[in-house]
Amino acid sequence: MDKFLIQGGSKLHGKVKASGAKNSSLALMPACLLNDGENILFNTPRVNDIFTMNKLLTHMGVNVEFSEHTLRINSKNLSTQVAPYEHVKKMRASVYVLGPLLAKYGFAKVSLPGGCAWGPRPINLHIESMKKLGADVKLEEGYIIAKAKKLHGAKINFDVSSVGATGNVLMAAVLAKGSTIITNAAIEPEIVQLTEMLIQMGAQINGIGTSTLEIEGVDSLKNTSIITISDRIEAGTILIAGAITKSKISIEVSNPEHLNAVIVKLEDAGCKIKVDENLIAIDAQNIDINSVDVTTAIYPGFPTDMQAQWTALMALSNGNATITDTIYIDRFNHIPELIRLGADIETIKNSAVVKGVKKLSGAKVMSTDLRASASLVLAGLAAEGTTEVLRIYHLDRGYQKIEDKLTQLGASIERVPTTEY
Ligand code: EPU
Repeated sequence: MDKFLIQGGSKLHGKVKASGAKNSSLALMPACLLNDGENILFNTPRVNDIFTMNKLLTHMGVNVEFSEHTLRINSKNLSTQVAPYEHVKKMRASVYVLGPLLAKYGFAKVSLPGGCAWGPRPINLHIESMKKLGADVKLEEGYIIAKAKKLHGAKINFDVSSVGATGNVLMAAVLAKGSTIITNAAIEPEIVQLTEMLIQMGAQINGIGTSTLEIEGVDSLKNTSIITISDRIEAGTILIAGAITKSKISIEVSNPEHLNAVIVKLEDAGCKIKVDENLIAIDAQNIDINSVDVTTAIYPGFPTDMQAQWTALMALSNGNATITDTIYIDRFNHIPELIRLGADIETIKNSAVVKGVKKLSGAKVMSTDLRASASLVLAGLAAEGTTEVLRIYHLDRGYQKIEDKLTQLGASIERVPTTEY
């Protein structure tokens, strides 16, 4: 087990490049179940969630080669359509195999993901949609067991816009018989990229990038290759590292537009932001961080995956800020840990009510989930003295060696082995 030792107070400077988007890769990888040849996914981040998906695919007999950032996936010799609990319990995104398995093989047995560190994360929309597409779905002994001779097209309207359910339905509908219309589809950049990949494979999909997707099923799909977009959440986290340390840094990304909502809030907080084609520069030198309220929303709104990091920034702002999460109403495990660092925050229902303080002081804190960990690292960068962040295996699920990027920018952060848990 590792922990981070962070000496707070260093100013950051320079430029780093964002890694590929974990949540894009986690959708692109199961899409490789839909055809029989080799697909190549470039710019895949080397993070633990990707290794978990690799293990799940390998368990199913899929050939997976991961060299540097290039993933080669070939499902020709798939030997089972079962996604067992031991893999799915580690990562909810494993449920993405449901749609493609069902569409290609007419059968899928996928473990129910179970609980989550921060509240209920149902998959009812995934299951109901598969039924609409003609599957017979049962829940038995902790598994979703879905069967269909051949899926057929359907009209699917999501009550709630869901990234995962949109991805799953897309991957099922591309090989279904007839046409499917998804309304209130997710338009997150990761879903847009999945749609792009499916179109490259020969799928017929209209409405890419909009909340209405029309899919005409085809008989088979061909091989493809794609370059994974930059991780907008990693990039946003690094921009906040610049803001919270009152520094001037920049980050290279595939498409700065994906971060518009975060950029606008950083500007409201008083940071100067300059956006070029593939670069976002932030200058927070000598500023007082303004307190700025945030309410999370589906894309293009402010992402729930940036809520914890924004809360860390607001902890050092010059006033009061309310941060409300409308996507995941319980996602506040970071608050007690930020309070250990000296933050003044109260959680009221699904809001964090933050009173900015003049300084944070280093302490031992514990990661509880991926984005909560990121907020603790950010707070540690600005706190006086040493912050120890324990259980950083949560962080390693989705950030590719964040300590290397931060060190490159001049932060004092070290990964050390520990027996502390
Ligand atoms: N929802 C339902 N029923 C469902 C599915 C979702 O009610 O069947 C609700 C959820 O409870 C939530 C809302 O719909 O309130 C949106 O959830 P969504 O399905 O969009 O989330 P997801 O697909 O499970 C992805 C990301 C998450 C990110 C959310 C929201 C991946 C692999 N995961 O999850 O990323 O928070 O979208 O943007 O793409 C992270 O990277 O830290 C992370 C948790």
